[in-house]
Amino acid sequence: MAEKLMHAVQCDSYGGGAAGLKHVEVPIPKPSKGELLLKLEATSLNPVDWKIQKGMLRPLLPLKFPWIPATDVAGEVLDVGPGVKNFKIGDKVVSMLNTFKGGGLSEYAVSSEDLTVSRPPEVSAAEGAGLPVAGLTALQALTYHGGITLDKTSPSPSPATNILITAASGGVGQYAVQLAKLGNVHVTATCGARNIDLVKSLGADEVLDYKTPEGAILKSPSDKKYDVVIHCATPIPWSTFEPNLGPKGKVIDITPGMSAIWTSFVKKVTCSKKQLVPILLYPKANNLEYLVGLVKEGKVKTVIDSKHPLKKAEEAWAKSIDGHATGKIIVEP
Ligand SMILES: NC(=O)c1ccc[n+]([C@@H]2O[C@H](COP(=O)([O-])OP(=O)(O)OC[C@H]3O[C@@H](n4cnc5c(N)ncnc54)[C@H](OP(=O)(O)O)[C@@H]3O)[C@@H](O)[C@H]2O)c1
Repeated sequence: MAEKLMHAVQCDSYGGGAAGLKHVEVPIPKPSKGELLLKLEATSLNPVDWKIQKGMLRPLLPLKFPWIPATDVAGEVLDVGPGVKNFKIGDKVVSMLNTFKGGGLSEYAVSSEDLTVSRPPEVSAAEGAGLPVAGLTALQALTYHGGITLDKTSPSPSPATNILITAASGGVGQYAVQLAKLGNVHVTATCGARNIDLVKSLGADEVLDYKTPEGAILKSPSDKKYDVVIHCATPIPWSTFEPNLGPKGKVIDITPGMSAIWTSFVKKVTCSKKQLVPILLYPKANNLEYLVGLVKEGKVKTVIDSKHPLKKAEEAWAKSIDGHATGKIIVEP
């Protein structure tokens, strides 16, 4: 019997940007042991998707082509593979697909049960799909690496009080601002002039336009020294961060270049009180579940930059490459 086909968008080689995406009809994948077949309702893009296409991560993990990009999805369980315990056909879910296998720019995708969580009716598919890479990175940067407790009533409140979040209008930054404000912290944020009101509405206490002289030197308008910086913008030299840090200030860098990696090494071996910590997201289902719960409770929202039909996925791709999204870019089958 002929296999059922689905519409998908794939790359046949590295490079090419939006023009490198090809619309194809391919067989609907089948779930193996511990996997779910999802009918996708929304997929969000992340800069890492086009960075992989560009070959920037090729030395670490080379791609197998053809490759259907994107990992952050929300949808409905259509079938389950052997051994799946926690999900059944018809369940609504949010899932993070394997970074290098991808699969999100399509009508159906196979996800691992281990990185899939339930999605309650209060959380729309687009809001849920925004969460995996961007939400998990913001959460882990603040809590694991920044040591911040996201609970104002905690018996052991965060020692860090002043935080700087750069690129607070981006996919990661918008979640970082909202999550940080669940804790007992003062948030200074940077973004472009057009997004200042939005970032304030997400909870930032003070906002710097990164294109002004004050924004460029990251100086807090109220003269605060930062205990923790969640750095989500393009690389900024250590000499710019250093004078703005408190005595034990820590820069958590989610976009480290070679210079930041070197600075991090030097700060570590010299036992400097001020540290630079490059980080990589570690996908964890319990963290994703926590984030979905916060969206359900209305404590965090997904700022949506734009929604694009799968048929025009290349427009969404080009927008992500452009680097000026406000929140998350969503593709819908
Ligand atoms: N380490 C990890 O595991 C990890 C995980 C997730 C993401 N990342 C990386 O983190 C970076 C941010 O990701 P994202 O999803 O948030 O990106 P994004 O959504 O594409 O960020 C775009 C936003 O950044 C703002 N922006 C750009 N340069 C800025 C600057 N110098 N100062 C302040 N705002 C600036 C833009 O504002 P304007 O439009 O006004 O310019 C835009 O609103 C990417 O490089 C991504 O690859 C790393």
